[in-house]
Amino acid sequence: MSDLISNLEKLGDEFGTVIAPLADEQAIRAAQAQFLGKKGKVSELMKELGKLPPAERPLVGAAANKVKATIEELTAARLNELAQIVARADLARSVDVTLPARPVGGGHLHLLSQVRLEAVQIFAELGFVMAEGPQIDTDWNNFEALALPKEHPARDMQDTFYISPEIVLRTHTSPVQVRTMLTQEPPIRIIAPGHVYRRDDDPTHSPMFTQLEGLAVDTDISFSDLKGTLLHFVKRFFQRDLAIRLRPSYFPFVEPGAEVDMQCSFCGGSGCRLCKFTGWIEIGGAGMVDPDVFANCRIDSERYTGFAFGMGLERMAMLRHNVTDIKFYYEGDLRFLEQF
Ligand code: PHE
Repeated sequence: MSDLISNLEKLGDEFGTVIAPLADEQAIRAAQAQFLGKKGKVSELMKELGKLPPAERPLVGAAANKVKATIEELTAARLNELAQIVARADLARSVDVTLPARPVGGGHLHLLSQVRLEAVQIFAELGFVMAEGPQIDTDWNNFEALALPKEHPARDMQDTFYISPEIVLRTHTSPVQVRTMLTQEPPIRIIAPGHVYRRDDDPTHSPMFTQLEGLAVDTDISFSDLKGTLLHFVKRFFQRDLAIRLRPSYFPFVEPGAEVDMQCSFCGGSGCRLCKFTGWIEIGGAGMVDPDVFANCRIDSERYTGFAFGMGLERMAMLRHNVTDIKFYYEGDLRFLEQF
């Protein structure tokens, strides 16, 4: 019996030496299992118990309990020691608060926002004040007042969502002309950027896009003022001596009306795939305000004349920055956005 007891007691010392060099919790727990587990060393010895006379068994049992307690204590002590080592190392770590901060990647304005602000700025230098209108507007502001009555065929090119028969997603920024003329006395010079909506969808057209509308109303506004203003804008925006041409065209709200073309910025006018070998690229519509529109907006067309134009900002930015698909603007892909 005494052999068994002393063997049990030895296990306590043995465990101590086994775990002394162990430095992680997993290894310590594994060692503990080798001693206290079902098939561990303590259980192995206890198999001898049956061979002893019953009277001696309690003494051995007590010794076994004691060695179990010792092993538990040794385990807890060693784990505690390790935790303290880690805590001390943590506290000893020094942080250099004088190091420069890690740079945080800053955002920036979207290309279209940059181009919009820049375009408004160029017109502001010519005396145009920025104006805005709602993207949901009345059928009257968007069409009727601009001489596009309900059944007018020119409405086909600007089909849109009707929220009700009288409320539409605006198809152009021209309703801002109407809103301005109804609330301001001439002289008027406004530049109105904003989103517009149409039934269009291909690499150069999107169902939602951004227009830039201009309107000047005064006692002696002429067609050459219109041309000079647009020419100045194109030269400033592209920072190049590009020509423009005004090609006769029809918009119900201007007379005469024109499509605005600029000399192709890719080939300089000699002809390429982009300008379909014409040397010219269409950038918008323009013309002299129709007297009917003045009448609708309570402006005396005997006294005042005016010009108006509308351009697509996506198109302008595509031409200047070689953007090949209008969808890139709206996808939010950083690989695109970060280039500008
Ligand atoms: N609103 C016209 C369009 O979107 C463009 C335009 C504006 C034409 C002003 C003439 C005058 O197609």
